[in-house]
Amino acid sequence: MIAEVIKNSFQSKYNNRPLLIKSPGRINLIGEHTDYNLGFVMPAAIEKAIYFAIQENDSKHINIETFLTSPEQITFDLNGKTNEFSSFWGNYFKAILKILRDKKYNLKGFDCVFGGDIPIGSGLSSSAALCCGFIYAVSELLDLGINKAEIALIAQKAEHNIGLNCGLMDQYAVLYGKKSNALFLDCKTLDHKHIPINLHGYSWVLINSNIKHNLAVDSEYNKRRESCELVVNHLRQSNTEINSLRDVKLADLNSIKNEIPSTDFKRANYILEENSRVEKMKNALESGNANKVGALLLEGHNAMSKEYEITTKELDLLVSIGQKLKGVIGSRMMGGGFGGCTINLVKTNLVEDSITSLISTYKEETGIDAEVYELHIGDGVHIIS
Ligand code: GLA
Repeated sequence: MIAEVIKNSFQSKYNNRPLLIKSPGRINLIGEHTDYNLGFVMPAAIEKAIYFAIQENDSKHINIETFLTSPEQITFDLNGKTNEFSSFWGNYFKAILKILRDKKYNLKGFDCVFGGDIPIGSGLSSSAALCCGFIYAVSELLDLGINKAEIALIAQKAEHNIGLNCGLMDQYAVLYGKKSNALFLDCKTLDHKHIPINLHGYSWVLINSNIKHNLAVDSEYNKRRESCELVVNHLRQSNTEINSLRDVKLADLNSIKNEIPSTDFKRANYILEENSRVEKMKNALESGNANKVGALLLEGHNAMSKEYEITTKELDLLVSIGQKLKGVIGSRMMGGGFGGCTINLVKTNLVEDSITSLISTYKEETGIDAEVYELHIGDGVHIIS
């Protein structure tokens, strides 16, 4: 078990008993790019996670170490000075420690070892797991009393500082996830509700296209956000009550169709439709209507592919292969886009046949080995011991 490996590695290096924290990755059933438009999303925390072993060290140094990608240790002093580092993950810790210092939280020296099994750059939010888990761990260890809503905002700010202008979906999933449930989150009010996602006779399966993305260094994600903001700003000129696409009705949008670039119109239109898909998905799950769930997945994927233009040809291929298989009820790309996983609703008795066929056709057509993950919905961030 990875948690044990992390704990043992901490103990053998620092000869001290650590606090052990589990911080999960997330999936998203539907509601893509709606979070920063203050719309609806429906993510869930998963069993794949990052684990942190952490303990005070009575020094003025913060040592953070991993063997996650390539092994590296980064040391910060309490003023934020650090050694040169090469791992991308170091940027997140640097950004978080700076925000905590700016907010006048009383930091002390500690040692931290982390690692996990969330595939990086696969749309499963390894970075939100990293950021939320670390802030939670530091807060618990040093008794800083940072509540979950505040952790989410700090983690989001760290992402923004590194370059991804993300919303709050990933952070809320990582922090508020609950076993066997999705989180129906209203990103405007931040109200959230747990929705059971088990459909009798059906299984959820993730397929990693193995096309990796780094949304923080790829500006395509931020460009989508800019398009949406441009539309909001345009509409605000005649109605100052419009603060986000959440406040926009289809008729408002149609009324400015000829005044804005067609790409921006298409993107804003996608967001309005995606919000309504999230509400429909909630109803379909609550009434146990698997066919409707599958149809919504597919509709969402096609819209991401054609209107919001955030898929890749490999992700489109995985979805279209699935469409031809009896066992696959529906599937869609998941997360920020430009690579990563699809989420698939599959008839349980046909999982093996369907997935074998999907993987082998994908390999024949792309030469890439896709990976399959059985989906286990787990709890949000918590202390293990
Ligand atoms: C990334 C971002 C989220 C969200 C999704 C797309 O995961 O971090 O805030 O925008 O993409 O739904």
